[in-house]
Amino acid sequence: MKVDVLLGLQWGDEGKGKVVDVLTPKYDVVARFQGGPNAGHTLEFHGEKYILRSIPSGIFQGGKVNVIGNGVVLDPLLFRQEAEALAASGHDLTKQLFISKKAHLILPTHRVLDMAYEASKGAGKIGTTGKGIGPAYTDKVSRNGLRVGDLLHNFEERYVAAKAKHEAILAALNYTYDITELEKEWLAALDYLKRFKLIDSEHVINRFLKEEKSVLAEGAQGTMLDIDFGSYPFVTSSNTICAGCCTGLGVSPRNIGEVFGIFKAYCTRVGSGPFPTELFDETGEQICQLGHEFGSVTGRKRRCGWIDLVALKYAIMINGVSQLIMMKSDVLDTFESIKACVSYRIDGEEVTEFPYEIGESIEPVYVELPGWNTNMTKMQSEDEFPEEFNAYLTFLEEELGVPIKIVSVGPDREQTIIRYTED
Ligand code: GDP
Ligand code: IMO
Ligand code: MG
Repeated sequence: MKVDVLLGLQWGDEGKGKVVDVLTPKYDVVARFQGGPNAGHTLEFHGEKYILRSIPSGIFQGGKVNVIGNGVVLDPLLFRQEAEALAASGHDLTKQLFISKKAHLILPTHRVLDMAYEASKGAGKIGTTGKGIGPAYTDKVSRNGLRVGDLLHNFEERYVAAKAKHEAILAALNYTYDITELEKEWLAALDYLKRFKLIDSEHVINRFLKEEKSVLAEGAQGTMLDIDFGSYPFVTSSNTICAGCCTGLGVSPRNIGEVFGIFKAYCTRVGSGPFPTELFDETGEQICQLGHEFGSVTGRKRRCGWIDLVALKYAIMINGVSQLIMMKSDVLDTFESIKACVSYRIDGEEVTEFPYEIGESIEPVYVELPGWNTNMTKMQSEDEFPEEFNAYLTFLEEELGVPIKIVSVGPDREQTIIRYTED
């Protein structure tokens, strides 16, 4: 079997958690391959709402194996809080959740460094989630990191050394902080982490594939936040793209199957950085309110704008997307007309290829399509789609060159429409 990958094509928060939950019944295993508690993946079903940060979104679908892969950065304390909250609601994960020994740990001082670096950037700050993601990946790449597997050997000594390095940087930055309480809780959480199966996940995943078990890899963030191809430097610190699944799980590129690319019917971004189709008017505010566009964990207001097909085509190309999934279509239910950016005008020239920089000189060129003015939230099948909505889908499929196989019309698991397939 091959690993199917589901990943975000925009700036994150596309609705990955919801769709992973919906697709999980078709899989034996769900695995996260990058990112960490900067993610906030929302799932809604049976009138309950759950937000997952480090734990894969397959855990609610009856006894499936869930894996936190080597490409993830894990904060033991936030992980403990997340897992304990789930246990309190009747979901004991200790038997169904495996954690890679090669996943890197986020230390309390990584969180402080994240804040200190942001403070030192002033107006140029990235608007990180403040969870220590950048500093933890920095230590990984500079070969100073601590890994989950280190918990099993000589941990204390390594921890003290890593912390001392961080303290020296923070002193040089003149940054004052107090982590006494945080550190106590963090250290206590290490023992909690040991209750889970700490595994060599690359072997386990490849064994699953040999045994013909199906694996779904769950991306975090989105392609436009990728460290290499996103709107650098306003990005996260991992490869959010399909290739990140190979390095983050130890899966060969030859073993990648379907690539599900997920996008909103419009576009959002949280944090700083360029966003060519951002709306600063009434329409942007309307999308924000109708879509409840506030961070699932931080509560930060998400910036809203029209769909950007230049950026989407780029994301489809980089990831080799084979199927598209369109989310939050219902948010546009009341709009008279809908715009889609088909090219950028830069210094008077029309550009259709996503450029090196997407600064302020970009003027989006829009196509305007009629809205459907219909409440789609209770629809069960594509037979019920209004004509204008079908026209919007056809337009997008023609522009993007990839079929839209799933349409989401609300946050609940049930509000998901699988379209007829021709293959
Ligand atoms: P993720 O990070 O990609 O998993 O996405 P988030 O959970 O951060 O953000 C998506 C938000 O949209 C969550 O609040 C979901 O409950 C919600 N959502 C997902 N799909 C739909 C949809 O089709 N319609 C509406 N109205 N909300 C949706
Ligand atoms: P999910 O998985 C949306 C953004 C932050 C910031 C930048 C860098 O829920 O889609 P970081 O803390 O990673 O160093 O922040 O990336 N960001 C996200 N935006 N959804 C996410 O995850 C994000 N994770 C990070 O807002 O701009
Ligand atoms: Mg999110």
